Amino acid sequence: MMTADHPLALLHTELGIPTDYGYRHGLVVQEEARLLVPLGLDCLGRDQFAEPATAAAWRTMQAAALTDGIVLQLVSAFRSVAYQAGLIRRKLDQGLSMEAILAVSAAPGYSEHHTGCALDITAPGEAVLEETFELSAAFSWLIGHAHGYGFAMSYPRGNPAGIAYEPWHWCYHASANSRI
Ligand code: DAL
Ligand code: ZN
Repeated sequence: MMTADHPLALLHTELGIPTDYGYRHGLVVQEEARLLVPLGLDCLGRDQFAEPATAAAWRTMQAAALTDGIVLQLVSAFRSVAYQAGLIRRKLDQGLSMEAILAVSAAPGYSEHHTGCALDITAPGEAVLEETFELSAAFSWLIGHAHGYGFAMSYPRGNPAGIAYEPWHWCYHASANSRI
């Protein structure tokens, strides 16, 4: 349970996030990346950044996919705690319940995107951040090959964190990269 003097506690109280959020979801606090490198533009024309090893693994994986005729594109990479809080505020302003929001967005401080190791991936012609991505050739390629580049899908169906299925969200784990 997060103590009241934890730096995230004030933000969570302000947003209305339950104090036992991490414990209930089996999630741990994710540190913000200290070093980020540019990944170029995402599919929406926004600059994206990742921590250096993730960026290198992404570039290698993206190039390998291309040799198999698969174009992988980014939707989102590093997100700060403040950015994640903004996403949640925006959804609250749209009238969504906190329960509905936390089913698809990690509470600020708990998102793998803070580490600069998580990438949301899409492919040309695919609806972004939609479950239908699992029907794409790009997703099949990722299932077959991403592990070898150090990437794992964090939120499969029925994941213990209780987060909705995210076939687009892949996190880099150096220990799983068989190419380094
Ligand atoms: N959508 C994932 C759970 C995140 O917000 O980090
Ligand atoms: Zn994600």
